[in-house]
Amino acid sequence: VPIEQIRNFSIIAHVDHGKSTLADRLLEFTGAIKQNTGQHQVLDKLQVEKERGITVKAQSASIVYSFKGKPYILNLIDTPGHVDFSSEVSRSLSVCQGVILLVDANDGVQAQTVANFYLAFGKDLTIIPVLNKIDLKQANPERVCHQLKNLFDIEAKDVLKISAKLGIGIKEVIEQIIEKLPHPKVDRHKPFQSLLYDSWYDKYRGALSLIYVNSGSAKVGDSISSCHTKKSYEIKTLSLLRPEEHSVDRIVAGQIGLLGCNMRNIKEAVVGDTLHVTSSPVGPLPGFQPPKSMVFAGIYPANLSEHTDLRKAIEKLTLNDSAVTVDIDTSPALGQGWRLGFLGLLHLEVFTQRLEQEHGTEAIITAPSVTYLIKLKATKETVKQGTNEIFINNPAVFPEHIRIEETHEPMVLGTIITPDSYLGPIMQLCQERRGVQKQAVNIDNDRVMLQYDLPLCEIVLDFHDSLKSISSGYASFDYEDNGFQLSSLVRMNILLNNVPCEELSTIVHSSKAQLVGRQMVLKLKELIPRQMIHIAVQATVNGKVLARENIKPYRKDVTAKLYGGDVTRRMKLLAQQAAGKKKMKMVANISVPRNTFIDFLKND
Ligand code: GTP
Repeated sequence: VPIEQIRNFSIIAHVDHGKSTLADRLLEFTGAIKQNTGQHQVLDKLQVEKERGITVKAQSASIVYSFKGKPYILNLIDTPGHVDFSSEVSRSLSVCQGVILLVDANDGVQAQTVANFYLAFGKDLTIIPVLNKIDLKQANPERVCHQLKNLFDIEAKDVLKISAKLGIGIKEVIEQIIEKLPHPKVDRHKPFQSLLYDSWYDKYRGALSLIYVNSGSAKVGDSISSCHTKKSYEIKTLSLLRPEEHSVDRIVAGQIGLLGCNMRNIKEAVVGDTLHVTSSPVGPLPGFQPPKSMVFAGIYPANLSEHTDLRKAIEKLTLNDSAVTVDIDTSPALGQGWRLGFLGLLHLEVFTQRLEQEHGTEAIITAPSVTYLIKLKATKETVKQGTNEIFINNPAVFPEHIRIEETHEPMVLGTIITPDSYLGPIMQLCQERRGVQKQAVNIDNDRVMLQYDLPLCEIVLDFHDSLKSISSGYASFDYEDNGFQLSSLVRMNILLNNVPCEELSTIVHSSKAQLVGRQMVLKLKELIPRQMIHIAVQATVNGKVLARENIKPYRKDVTAKLYGGDVTRRMKLLAQQAAGKKKMKMVANISVPRNTFIDFLKND
């Protein structure tokens, strides 16, 4: 079809506002999938997405629709809704000309609605506001329209009201996409230039690339080259996603398609790369910021014998998730493992869940950490290295305090939307998490939007859960990266009979050291079994003891319950006890069961 009959769009919404349901209805309405076949949420392909009801990997579908006698191709780019995946949202939006801003008519505008609106607005996209779930008894469209006017200056008359669940208003959505969104501004007569905006690994065909054609056209058999890697490939397959793959011979400007060209390694399919026909080179399109890892955690096999299996599983999973960074890591207690970087905590959870579900691998995940920036005092060495700045995300390598000039921690700008009855406890929570309030605005008569500067390490673990529980689930939260800030950070060591145990060290803000130290020694006292010798558990900062607990000695005489007689039985028991000791790690003459580390490092 001509360029004028193509529309590329995304649906952006807060979690659970009905994005996947609407996508299904659009596909059903246009006949791309059959109605009532139980094929619900066809775009959420992965099992974890189904279970968690969230969209992780952006998927696309081309919809064909006839309007006023002309066929239109509407390319729906599905975007993940969760804050951890905002880089994927941004990436998907850069191939769109417009978005559907979907808002639950009962819940109203939420934190992610705000974040997503500004992403789309910042890219100059046409925005079609749509209220969903108008079938709900509690739906209050007037109120939500008022919020849209207050926050985004959207007029009530421009807002569509639909029920994705019941299929009400779907036709209007499709016709507005055609009437309101501009077609892509592209030229099919220029040389082929396309943006690689997503890629994944296919067992049989190698890396597949999802491309948006910005100019020209290409066909199966053409030789194409990458602006980034300079490598050349022959196009083997081209298909449109409707949403099933639909083979085509040629792909033209304005269109979105899946390209297979025998790339054996996903690393060759660099997201943000530009592809051109080898014989007519073109310059690169503006690429993307590589996704930035915000949260790091160690990952180790639960049994040392499963090391190879775990390595293979991690390799396979990272093939499909280029946002995960992988480094080798070792721990005296847990053996060989890896240190992985994630976009956020949910990303980490999804990754480990996929590891278990798709690869049957059990792994130990250590407590997550963020990346800190440390400025060292000038020495011969820092001069030699040309910088005194180091970035660390593993407490085990935090430098000695005498070497440190300054410590900085990563910050985020957090947005919270809440009914004002929860304002008190929420502000208190933010304060406990060392937050600094930046803004508070009323978005209607009884709802408020708050903005806080917050340290990332204070929100990665359980901030969202705490926020939900103190607001009975009504407050929503989203955040964006906000750089580093000078902060007083210390490394807390855990000592067992004066010997430091590196796996157990953590980085904490000095104002919280006392509290955290107390909690840690109490937890260890619970976990470490009593032994023949007395054990002192201490938490120290810069050599100063902040907390201490004692574990009293206890003799475990396994033979006591025997009546002396049977020597072989006695020998057997002693042998068993010796074998049990092998599973222990010796720290300062104290045997600490491997499980202690595992239980301690695991987040509860
Ligand atoms: P994420 O993928 O997690 O961002 O969620 P989503 O926005 O795709 O939401 P989804 O489509 O999964 O819908 C969330 C819930 O809302 C589901 O239980 C849907 O059945 C329900 N829902 C969606 N649309 C409607 C609607 O129009 N009316 C009612 N009553 N419920 C709806």
